[in-house]
Amino acid sequence: MVYAIRRMEKEDFRQVTEIDREVFPTQWPPPNYRQELNNKIAYYIVAHDTARTTVISPTPPERSSTGFLSHFMPWSKKKQAHQNEANLYKTQYIIGFSGIWMMVGEAHITNIAVRQQYQRQGIGELLLIATIDLSRELKAETMTLEVRESNTIAQSLYGKYGFTQVGQRRGYYLDNRESAIIMSTENLRSSAFQANLEKLRDSLTRKLGAAAA
Ligand SMILES: CC(C)(COP(=O)(O)OP(=O)(O)OC[C@H]1O[C@@H](n2cnc3c(N)ncnc32)[C@H](O)[C@@H]1OP(=O)(O)O)[C@@H](O)C(=O)NCCC(=O)NCCS
Repeated sequence: MVYAIRRMEKEDFRQVTEIDREVFPTQWPPPNYRQELNNKIAYYIVAHDTARTTVISPTPPERSSTGFLSHFMPWSKKKQAHQNEANLYKTQYIIGFSGIWMMVGEAHITNIAVRQQYQRQGIGELLLIATIDLSRELKAETMTLEVRESNTIAQSLYGKYGFTQVGQRRGYYLDNRESAIIMSTENLRSSAFQANLEKLRDSLTRKLGAAAA
């Protein structure tokens, strides 16, 4: 399989929200990714499977097509269904995404997620490397994030890329009052951070190249 990374576009927010709901079902409400596209400090990227497309509708269904009124106006329901069908279009299949908020020299990772079906294939790493590259382009000196105490998978991913625990926020997550661990990098331009990044980039390129061959 071949994966590609690009900046998140308006048409992606539905699939990104779908992935968010799949991997963070208890976090409510989900972030408003459509609004994030207009947030001046937010930068999001997506990974897509180049061998696959999907069909989506750009507009949400009208309330009247499914609500109380549709019972009395079935023709309106039909008309809406027809309009939605006409609007459907083919687009790239998004398999993961990540985002940062840029704040005075620091890139704060807001999220990173991969569709369950695509996990454990290196896409999380691909996204994290692209996020680090983007943060460096935006002149971030360091990167930081919060992660659930119980989320040892994500902690392991971040640890591999040089993030270390620098603090804790007690009861940070509203759904179950779980604490967050704060993880940060050293200076992104330090030789140790860069050497580790380049070593991991090479090894991931080999792994994904072999999988695609
Ligand atoms: C965290 C997440 C993005 C990783 O994505 P992924 O594509 O499966 O990860 P990769 O295949 O690139 O694996 C990279 C590293 O992540 C860690 N990792 C991934 N899956 C793991 C697992 N099942 N057990 C332990 N470590 C794991 C390892 O450090 C791994 O490196 P390794 O292959 O050298 O062991 C993915 O599990 C996910 O979407 N989780 C739900 C959302 C989430 O928790 N996001 C983090 C919010 S802070």
